[in-house]
Amino acid sequence: MKRDREVLRSPFLAAVVAAALLPIWVLAAAKQQNHHLQRGIGDKKLTFGTDGQFKILQVADMHYGNGKTTPCKDVLPSQFATCSDLNTTAFVRRMIEAEKPNLIVFTGDNIYGFDVTNAAKSLNEAFAPAIASNIPWAAVLGNHDQQSDLSREGVMKHIVGLKNTLAQVNPLGQDAIDGFGNYNLEVAGVEGFSFENKSVLNLYFLDSGDYSTVPSIGRYGWIKPSQQYWFERTSAKLQKAYMSKPLPQKAPAPGIAYFHIPLPEFASFDSSNFTGVKQEGISSASVNSGFFTTMVAAGDVKAVFIGHDHLNDFCGELSGINLCYAGGFGYHAYGKAGWDRRARVVVANLEKTVKGGWGAVKSIKTWKRLDDEHLTAIDGQVLWSKSSVGMRRKKPVGGN
Ligand SMILES: *[C@@H]1O[C@H](CO)[C@@H](O)[C@H](O)[C@H]1NC(C)=O
Ligand SMILES: *[C@@H]1O[C@H](CO)[C@@H](O)[C@H](O)[C@H]1NC(C)=O
Ligand SMILES: *[C@@H]1O[C@H](CO)[C@@H](O)[C@H](O)[C@H]1NC(C)=O
Repeated sequence: MKRDREVLRSPFLAAVVAAALLPIWVLAAAKQQNHHLQRGIGDKKLTFGTDGQFKILQVADMHYGNGKTTPCKDVLPSQFATCSDLNTTAFVRRMIEAEKPNLIVFTGDNIYGFDVTNAAKSLNEAFAPAIASNIPWAAVLGNHDQQSDLSREGVMKHIVGLKNTLAQVNPLGQDAIDGFGNYNLEVAGVEGFSFENKSVLNLYFLDSGDYSTVPSIGRYGWIKPSQQYWFERTSAKLQKAYMSKPLPQKAPAPGIAYFHIPLPEFASFDSSNFTGVKQEGISSASVNSGFFTTMVAAGDVKAVFIGHDHLNDFCGELSGINLCYAGGFGYHAYGKAGWDRRARVVVANLEKTVKGGWGAVKSIKTWKRLDDEHLTAIDGQVLWSKSSVGMRRKKPVGGN
């Protein structure tokens, strides 16, 4: 009897203690978040360069294994003997040297868990060229990152502890969110000019999951309502700030989203309306969770960049949003022998003001580079420009 009472009483006591401590915990969490913000906005604040440019290198699907003992997949027979994960590392290094980006974004399947013996070690090695470059970097998870000795939460926690990363496990201030690695980054205008304290380009990072855990639904994961709710609130908050004083703007700052698994809408194109190639099916979730519609309704996202399908590298526009693959990057990832591994670059340019200063974002462009001798650049295209938005906003002729 007594034992029963004690058992009953202790959870009750625990709840009372927890309730009393809750404000302290919340404060501590807020303090921690502040500290993180300070780190992000202090030494690691993202800003446009003095040339009015912000360039992002996207690395999709490194599929890093154990290093030099891990062989390459789908290379020419003549290349097989001398090819390993070290070729993936060399490609990351070459891309960083060639493009000198302001930010490097890894869009998942950073490691290929099934073949990894020590996830922490492989993650360290996979991100090593980014860390060594001293350029800030971000990462999200794919569907293979957790298939070794760390869970998805474990992988993301390891990543956020690495040097120079701006990645976060999840946003603080929202009680529950699905997945690990949902966060946003703000990019301010050029230091010393009028937009230096405003985010003129917004980057959203989401965990698109791994595999469905719903028995009646097969295949891959999807972006859940909790994540879409976080995105909506974040987008609304950023738009409000951008369109308020000082320097209130008429339209939201452009946004870009990065995650791993394609949305079902990636299947809306064919070669008549995309740039790049489609050499395999679109491996999205078998259900549509509505994130594309959520982004269209929010109104700020102009382009989405993903990986997952290594043989697709196209960009197509649907309802004002560019849906872009990066194309396969890693050598231990399936690919196509003789079809070069590749990476995607995105650059946003600011408009010059009449007084010789820097204004808001004028255009967003993209291209890819192949891992050949000269890192050949291909498929350059303008994804968005401010003037085209202005034109679309004109009153239609004969409209009411
Ligand atoms: C991989 O790297 C080795 C060593 O630098 C090089 O000889 C080989 O050509 C590379 N293989 C591919 C497919 O790039
Ligand atoms: C940006 O903020 C800093 C620090 O508060 C301030 O000194 C500076 O004048 C601000 N710049 C603009 C353009 O408002
Ligand atoms: C692309 O073109 C095809 C016809 O070739 C059409 O069915 C499809 O709707 C188009 N997609 C978009 C997004 O315009």
